[in-house]
Amino acid sequence: MVADNVFKAIKGKIKFREPMRRHTTFKIGGPAKYYLEPRDIRQLKLLLKAAKRYKIPVLVIGAGSNILAADQGLEAAVLRLAATVFKKISGRNNNLTVASGVTLSRLLSLCRQRGLAGLEFLAGIPGTLGGALAMNAGIPQKNIADLVEDVRVMDYNGKITTLKKKEIKFGYRSSGLAKYIILNARLRLTKADKRQVKERIENYLRLRRAAQDNRRPSAGCVFKNHQGLSAGRLIDLCGLKGKRIGGASICGRHANFILNLGAARARDVLRLMDLARAEVKKKFNITLEPEINIWQ
Ligand code: EPU
Repeated sequence: MVADNVFKAIKGKIKFREPMRRHTTFKIGGPAKYYLEPRDIRQLKLLLKAAKRYKIPVLVIGAGSNILAADQGLEAAVLRLAATVFKKISGRNNNLTVASGVTLSRLLSLCRQRGLAGLEFLAGIPGTLGGALAMNAGIPQKNIADLVEDVRVMDYNGKITTLKKKEIKFGYRSSGLAKYIILNARLRLTKADKRQVKERIENYLRLRRAAQDNRRPSAGCVFKNHQGLSAGRLIDLCGLKGKRIGGASICGRHANFILNLGAARARDVLRLMDLARAEVKKKFNITLEPEINIWQ
C-alpha cells in the first residue's frame, strides 16, 4: 500500500498494527493501524502531511493514562512524542520550558531538586506534560493551567505557534488544545525550600495512595466530577463498588476508578460506565460526563 510506504519512510519508531494495550495504563485496546514516534519536528511535519494526504486520523497519546482504546483496534495513526527532542526541560530560576513528552514524575523530581514549588499536586498522576495540559489535569482545588504562561503548538498543517495562556480555553478537565499537537509549555513556578517541596510531594502521594487503588491497571477517574460533586462518591452511593462485568470491575476503594482485573475488554469498561451513568441519573438526576478519552 502506498500510505504504508510513506509512513515507513518516516524516521523514528514506526510500527504497524501495534496493540494499544501495550501503550495504555488500562492495558486494553486492539491494534492501531500505525503507531508513530517521530524522531524530530521535521519528521513530525512529514507524518502530519502523510496523514492528511491519505485521510488517516491522527490520535496523540501521552503516557496513555486517560485512554480507553477499542477492542477491534483503530483505523488511525497513533502519535507519541517520545523522542529525545520532545523530552527536554530548560530554563532558569522559576521559569521552566518543558517539552510535552516529559513525564510528570520526572518534572516533579526536577522541581524537588531545584526547590521549585507549584506542581506538587500532580504527584502520582501517571501522565506526560502534554497529556496534563490537554486535559487540564489537577485536583479539585488546583489545575495545571494555574502554572502556565504559554504553550507552543503545531497545527495539523504543520504550522507552529505560541498561544498565550489567555488565548487558551482552559476549563475543568478541558483546554481546547486537542485541535493542536502540544510541543512544549512555559511554566511559572515559585522558588521554595527544597525540603518543603519534597514534603508536599510526599503528602500528595500519600493522599492519592490512600484514596485510590493502583494495584490493577486503570485509567484513573473515568468520569468528570459534576459541579464540585465527586463522581466517585455519587457512584459509590448507588452501591456499585465492586460491580463486575467481564474482566472489569468498579473499584472498591474509589468508585470513579474502573479496574482491569486481567483480561478486561473495552466493551466491559463501556458497559460498566453505562451502568454507572444510568444509576447516577436515576438516583440523583445527574448526567456524568466521561473524563477519559474513548477511542473507537
Ligand atoms: N468518595 C466516596 N466514595 C468514593 C470516592 C470518593 O465517598 O468511591 C468521597 C471521598 O471520601 C471524599 C470525596 O468523595 O470525601 C472526594 O473524593 P476524592 O478526594 O477521592 O476526590 P474526587 O473528587 O473523587 C478528584 C479528582 C481525582 C484526584 C482527586 C484528588 C476528578 C474527576 N477526580 O477526585 O483525579 O486524584 O480529586 O483529590 O476530578 C483523575 O483525574 O483521574 C483523578 C483520579
